[in-house]
Amino acid sequence: MAVLVCGGAGYIGSHTVYQLVKSGEKVVIVDNLQTGHRDAINKEAKFYEGDIRNSEVLDKIFTENEIEAVIHFAANSLVGESVEKPLMYFNNNVYGMQILLESMVKNGVGKIVFSSTAATYGEPEKIPIEENDRTAPTNPYGESKLIMEKMMKWVSRANGVNFVSLRYFNAAGAVESGAIGEDHHPETHLIPLILQVPLGKRDHITIFGDDYPTPDGTCLRDYIHVLDLADAHILALNYLRDGGESNVFNLGNGQGFSVKEMIVAAEKVTGQKIKTEMGTRRAGDPAQLIASSDKAKKILKWTPKFTNVEKIIETAWTWHKNNPDGYKN
Ligand code: UFG
Repeated sequence: MAVLVCGGAGYIGSHTVYQLVKSGEKVVIVDNLQTGHRDAINKEAKFYEGDIRNSEVLDKIFTENEIEAVIHFAANSLVGESVEKPLMYFNNNVYGMQILLESMVKNGVGKIVFSSTAATYGEPEKIPIEENDRTAPTNPYGESKLIMEKMMKWVSRANGVNFVSLRYFNAAGAVESGAIGEDHHPETHLIPLILQVPLGKRDHITIFGDDYPTPDGTCLRDYIHVLDLADAHILALNYLRDGGESNVFNLGNGQGFSVKEMIVAAEKVTGQKIKTEMGTRRAGDPAQLIASSDKAKKILKWTPKFTNVEKIIETAWTWHKNNPDGYKN
């Protein structure tokens, strides 16, 4: 039996495949390479280039392979882009989930682990955020992921497809060897953008506002290492294998770091001074996003290994230093 990873050529998908292969799982990947990278595809996995919105592609994969479970990353994930192109997000993310679930039901595949996000909460009602807190997304990206969760909920009740939805906070870092890492076009995430300064690819990093109600006025985020996220997917898979009921879990370190603190930490890691400029607030940025991951720790027995933010940045630095222009393919 194999695990089908939808979106296995993307950032978090490729790191999860890396951990799955390491733990002895048989892996099949489907990716349309719209945002994923051919060079991020694990050589040990069987790869299908195709779009999950095409049911023929999925039916072919389910027929040609004995798929026990699906781990689903195949989605667009840029907040700003989603505000400009909501229909693109509803098509790729929501319609993609529709076709995937239809094909899973048709082919008798009963387990799915889903890549969700803190963006399902929107502006948090309290800190740290717990799974039962209000979900009120402030952008189409978060809305699309919340709709996808709800689709799985109803399909689990009607058709017996059990799901685990993992709501990540700020994914960061890379495998320690620097073999795979983060490469988005355009890049909008803080850590890769900060590291472009010491790489000489950017003159300075703009801080998006220092008038937030936080200790230094800049936004607090909960940075969680991509390999810790990957491990949580494997634990979620085993939880479903053991008969666990459909469930939702937050994944974060439970500690908030400000934009300014992240820049200082990156200066320590790279040994270089990083030039900053003060900008205005970015629309839709909550002041703080910090997870309570107690539920994942208790039920999935998840223990993040990268609890030191400098260590997280160091693994990102190794990747970006070795691959200043990202993947070649
Ligand atoms: N930031 C800057 N300057 C930059 C880029 C980012 O100051 O050039 C700040 C942002 O304003 C924010 C923090 O750095 O306060 C982190 O920003 P990111 O874009 O790296 O991450 P976000 O917190 O906006 O987004 C993350 C995930 C999304 C997810 C979201 C949940 O990357 O997928 O959390 O709200 F949707």
